Amino acid sequence: MTTIAIDGPAAAGKGTLSRRIAEAYGYHHLDTGLTYRATAKALLDRGLPLDDEAIAADVARNLDLSGLDRAVLSAHGIGEAASKIAVMPAVRRALVEAQREFAAREPGTVLDGRDIGTVVCPDATVKLYVTASADIRARRRYDEIIAGGGTADYDAVFEDVRRRDARDMGRVDSPLRPAENAHLLDTSEMSIEAAFSAAKSIIDAALKH
Ligand code: C5P
Repeated sequence: MTTIAIDGPAAAGKGTLSRRIAEAYGYHHLDTGLTYRATAKALLDRGLPLDDEAIAADVARNLDLSGLDRAVLSAHGIGEAASKIAVMPAVRRALVEAQREFAAREPGTVLDGRDIGTVVCPDATVKLYVTASADIRARRRYDEIIAGGGTADYDAVFEDVRRRDARDMGRVDSPLRPAENAHLLDTSEMSIEAAFSAAKSIIDAALKH
């Protein structure tokens, strides 16, 4: 069984990259950010507080991984709410357990998130840490919003990216950081195609061993 762990900050391009990799190798893919987002959305929908760890953990334990809808969960406000409940250890324990079960699927899996190589799958076959400068990530997110017909202010998007980075890297439980044996992939100067081909070379080399 093969597990590919892909971590990195918000808007680094790891989602697109992970989906392409899963498709190329015929593996199951889980965007673990969606599990935090779905938990946050369930709380918001039911009018429950975002700062009660016991309630949030209870919702996390009852989450159905098969019903995660990326289009619905990608809303900006849900991402913000997700990063707030993601600091809670009991929420993380519940979601990590479900993520580990997913990671055991045959013939292989690709999981992307913040703590896959460090906490969820420390024995993953290959670990990638995908990053890009905060400015480039903000620019990509801004372009995405505009391309989708929305309106945005670049400075506000940049601030969002910085705030999310600070929260994800600064939390006590499972902070975002590269695993010791992760391959670093800086996509600042890369197209999606170039990033995919660089990732594929790293994975192919690791699968040969
Ligand atoms: O990647 P995405 O933006 O969908 O993740 C939303 C939030 O969920 C992140 O900002 C982060 O706080 C949290 N998250 C996490 N661990 C993961 C995946 C996401 O803490 N493995």
